[in-house]
Amino acid sequence: MSQIDWGLGSYEATGADLLPAARELVDAAAIRPGEHVVDIGAGTGNVALLAADLGARVTAVESAARLREVIREVSGERDVTVVDGTAASIPLADGSADVLLSNFAVIFAPDPAAAMAEMARVAGPQGRILLTSWLPGDIEEVIGLLVRAVRDLTGDGGSAQGRVGWHGPDVLNDLLGEHGFEVSATTNDLIITTSSPQEYWQTRIADHPLGVTTFPMLEQAGRLDEVRARTIDVLTERWTGTSGEVRLPAQYLLAVATR
Ligand SMILES: C[S@@+](CC[C@H](N)C(=O)[O-])C[C@H]1O[C@@H](n2cnc3c(N)ncnc32)[C@H](O)[C@@H]1O
Repeated sequence: MSQIDWGLGSYEATGADLLPAARELVDAAAIRPGEHVVDIGAGTGNVALLAADLGARVTAVESAARLREVIREVSGERDVTVVDGTAASIPLADGSADVLLSNFAVIFAPDPAAAMAEMARVAGPQGRILLTSWLPGDIEEVIGLLVRAVRDLTGDGGSAQGRVGWHGPDVLNDLLGEHGFEVSATTNDLIITTSSPQEYWQTRIADHPLGVTTFPMLEQAGRLDEVRARTIDVLTERWTGTSGEVRLPAQYLLAVATR
């Protein structure tokens, strides 16, 4: 399940939700004009555009063909080169990047050690790697209902964000330490807002690539209605205000690796 086509359905609403974290990530990278910045799993280009606007030369790495087209379109005249690739397969030379950034993307890599080795290969001697990763908490309570239902059916041990606990400080130190990096991290949060629980379900789950990929299987197994009802219930009970608006807090880790 971790291998989904992120070009399916519409990722755009979630991309907008993640923009505040992209800003934090780019701020933490302290990008200097002229630096080569590589955005791994660029999605709709949140990080790539922010970095380019600071004067960086940006390479956006994205495996979903539709999203590569979206980035090309939104980049306009900015210095953004869009390429096909993943965290474990980056079409760039050794040591060619000053900064590698990944906003909630490398966390989906099926082989985290291979992904980190590849990002370390592309980072120059003074190169830095920064990434964000969800922390267990409120958002997991919501998306976990879908993820667990799918796991019941497929037996897939994967989670909504890959197979290792990316948020654990030891995990990142282990993965990057062997490539000469030291990791520090902060805990941040953002708030996902929709006009109603139903809008959350439709735009953040049903239309999301994860929903588009998994709904046929759930429907066939007769589980989709139950997952939908439980998701809307938990959103209503926990995060819906008197106006009907959903405000779902989402905690995440921002990790900075330098050598
Ligand atoms: C939650 S989206 C984040 C997109 C973007 N970084 C943003 O800020 O909106 C997840 C992204 O991870 C990408 N992705 C999935 N598997 C990946 C992998 N193995 N390596 C790098 N990126 C991956 C997807 O193509 C998708 O663009």
